[in-house]
Amino acid sequence: MKSLGVNIGNITLKNPLICGSGEHFIELSGIEKALKAGAGAVVIKSTNESDAAKEQLEKTDYALLDSNFNKLEWDFNPPRDASVFNRSGLHPQPFDQWLELAAAADKLAAEHDAYAVASLIPASTQKLLEYAREIEKAGIRILEVNVGAPHGEEAATGAIMLEREASRISDITKALRKAVDIPLWIKLTGQSQEIPAMVKAAKDAGADAVTLMGRYMGFIPDIDTGKPMLGTHAAYGGPWALPLTCHWLVKTRAQIGSDYSLMATNGARNGHDIIRFMLSGASAVQMTSAIFASGYDIISNSINELTDYLNVKDLDCIALIGAAADQCETYADQQNRKDYWRDFTPT
Ligand SMILES: Cc1cc2nc3c(=O)[nH]c(=O)nc-3n(C[C@H](O)[C@H](O)[C@H](O)COP(=O)(O)O)c2cc1C
Repeated sequence: MKSLGVNIGNITLKNPLICGSGEHFIELSGIEKALKAGAGAVVIKSTNESDAAKEQLEKTDYALLDSNFNKLEWDFNPPRDASVFNRSGLHPQPFDQWLELAAAADKLAAEHDAYAVASLIPASTQKLLEYAREIEKAGIRILEVNVGAPHGEEAATGAIMLEREASRISDITKALRKAVDIPLWIKLTGQSQEIPAMVKAAKDAGADAVTLMGRYMGFIPDIDTGKPMLGTHAAYGGPWALPLTCHWLVKTRAQIGSDYSLMATNGARNGHDIIRFMLSGASAVQMTSAIFASGYDIISNSINELTDYLNVKDLDCIALIGAAADQCETYADQQNRKDYWRDFTPT
């Protein structure tokens, strides 16, 4: 039996499947189901101090789309290539109740040899630091701070911070690192060309790991009604996003080195996607939409797929990390094939 264990900074996870934050982790019952299904860690639904961000949860909407932008039934059995288009809000409870939930969740997680990760999406730096200290005081073992939530610019003013510049990532991470000693994960937006620089800024400022990378904002006209689907811009993600995250994992690894923990998010739908992300340089993978739209069994199914692969290849999980990334060549390295392009042009 090959080892599934992976290290994220100084933390060892029993396997690389982390359940990313989402509505299914608003309540302890959802977190418990994910832990029972074998997740290495579960990121609790994010919170901050903004009432507008909480109220936004009452105005959410979700669509599951096929590749022709047709709505699919939300029957918890979507095809692998379904994409999720949605707007979201933050955890509905006041911070003290959220904190109680998070502490109970992390205690429960420890019984499963796993972690429940506290998650903040900041509205202001001052409250971010105050809440981070409270989280540490409550005994929660890991904090993730998402400074790249895609809804940032559509949400009410002041409800959600969305950072795109390395200097801001540096300032926020330094302040957090001064405020708390617990492992700190920084989750970044994918809506920037500065991704390796943002990761380096987080690393240099003391973050234990970085999660790459948040979903994209989209707009989808409904051609029957002529109106915007769901009525607004919304976040969009699907399996098509996996290569985009992999691209930035590889670029980041090349620029900052192989000794820093990167986590992947955006596009994982099964165990083979976890492998793809790890081969690109991720030490662990956060899976959200697949669980939200398919149910908790996808967690154990994905871990089984990963286990089978490792057994067939006779590899421990950590051997996957960056193995494809480190073989990535340049365009100039490729062999010359005269007129080969003609094979790909229509006659
Ligand atoms: C319905 C929904 C709610 C989400 N809520 C949060 C959240 O509260 N905090 C957070 O950091 N990410 C949140 N995310 C982002 C996911 O954790 C994840 O990074 C993203 O969906 C891409 O991964 P996926 O393709 O596995 O869904 C949410 C995503 C979805 C679909």
